[in-house]
Amino acid sequence: MSMDRYYLLGRSGLRVSPLALGTMNFGTGGYHAAYGKTEEEARPIFRRYLEAGGNLIDTADFYTAGESETILGRLIAEAGVRDRVVLTTKYTNSVDPGDPNAGGNGRKHLIRAVEASLRRLRTDHIDLFLLHTWDRITPVEEVLRTFDDLVRAGKIRHAGLSDVPSWYAARAQTYAEAHALEPMVSLQLPYSLVDREIEREHVPMGQALGLGVTAWSPLAGGFLTGKYRPTGQGLAGPGRLSGETPEWSEREWGILAAVESVAGKLGVPMAQVALNWVATQPGIASAIVGAGSAAQLDANLAALDFELPAELRAELDQASAEPPRSLYRMFTGGYQSLLVSPGVKVGDKPDGYSPAVRNWVEAEHSATS
Ligand SMILES: NC(=O)c1ccc[n+]([C@@H]2O[C@H](COP(=O)([O-])OP(=O)(O)OC[C@H]3O[C@@H](n4cnc5c(N)ncnc54)[C@H](OP(=O)(O)O)[C@@H]3O)[C@@H](O)[C@H]2O)c1
Repeated sequence: MSMDRYYLLGRSGLRVSPLALGTMNFGTGGYHAAYGKTEEEARPIFRRYLEAGGNLIDTADFYTAGESETILGRLIAEAGVRDRVVLTTKYTNSVDPGDPNAGGNGRKHLIRAVEASLRRLRTDHIDLFLLHTWDRITPVEEVLRTFDDLVRAGKIRHAGLSDVPSWYAARAQTYAEAHALEPMVSLQLPYSLVDREIEREHVPMGQALGLGVTAWSPLAGGFLTGKYRPTGQGLAGPGRLSGETPEWSEREWGILAAVESVAGKLGVPMAQVALNWVATQPGIASAIVGAGSAAQLDANLAALDFELPAELRAELDQASAEPPRSLYRMFTGGYQSLLVSPGVKVGDKPDGYSPAVRNWVEAEHSATS
């Protein structure tokens, strides 16, 4: 895998880079102001990503109170790359605290948000438009119908979801298929060695329903680079997590030790190990990297220049695994081996014969035999 290869995003014809550029820190306003970058600081990061061959760029109307989109619009125009990039943005967060319809997932806000993003991004279409966060209110039918209208109107090319429960995404995709509406192509979710929650439901769902998962905060905001150490007053280190007191325990520090050990054996920086692991996990279409400088981005882009040997991947998997509990135990080795007799071979059909299905039964039997 490398930056000069492009992969299809979910069940679509859209080709994207295995590392996307996150621009949550482009701009100095709003919620992300504390670690925001000016346009002058953002430009070399953006240029470096393009030079490396990257084409998937992520922003949101909410980032730095709209500045991220505004800066990106200018940088894209300046570089003359609007057609070459796959421009992703999102809507949901309120843009006017006094207006009950200025936030959430409903149609009125959705259409207003698209129009505002188009203006800030200086473009007439968005390549991938995502619902940013589930609002727990708007019916899925309203979102899908509007996405479909926006595709037909040429305002967006593809649609997807971010930060939603797996049942919601499954209902959305099934509803879209049943009613011949534009299907979703992507799910944007948190995923890293310290946060593997989505492996239980979202990843297998994405694989089954044609949704390519893009992983946000693959370095856990910089934690997995190894530059932070715990102190009585929170984390200490040169970056945006400094002074924070995340709810991390022995588990997370154990994962960091495993990343350090693997990085030492391979002779590469810890950030590259953590990113390589995310980008090459099953069902992950692209890891969305954030960078505070072009030098950081450079180091991160080299994360695809090597292969993680199986035994070192196993070391990382072991340190970060979260044993299934309760219901989820029913879907693993012990219980599942009661469902099909061990002598029966159940597995994938040969490549090209049919879409791959998970070979869990065979894998579980060989793991327990
Ligand atoms: N959908 C959502 O809800 C959601 C939520 C969060 C993020 N996102 C998207 O995901 C993107 C990435 O998120 P993230 O910034 O949290 O990702 P991340 O890759 O986990 O963290 C990136 C941060 O780590 C530090 N870093 C990166 N490379 C480094 C290196 N080589 N050496 C030392 N430090 C390094 C930098 O922070 P310092 O500047 O502190 O050094 C950088 O800003 C965002 O820009 C956004 O597009 C989406």
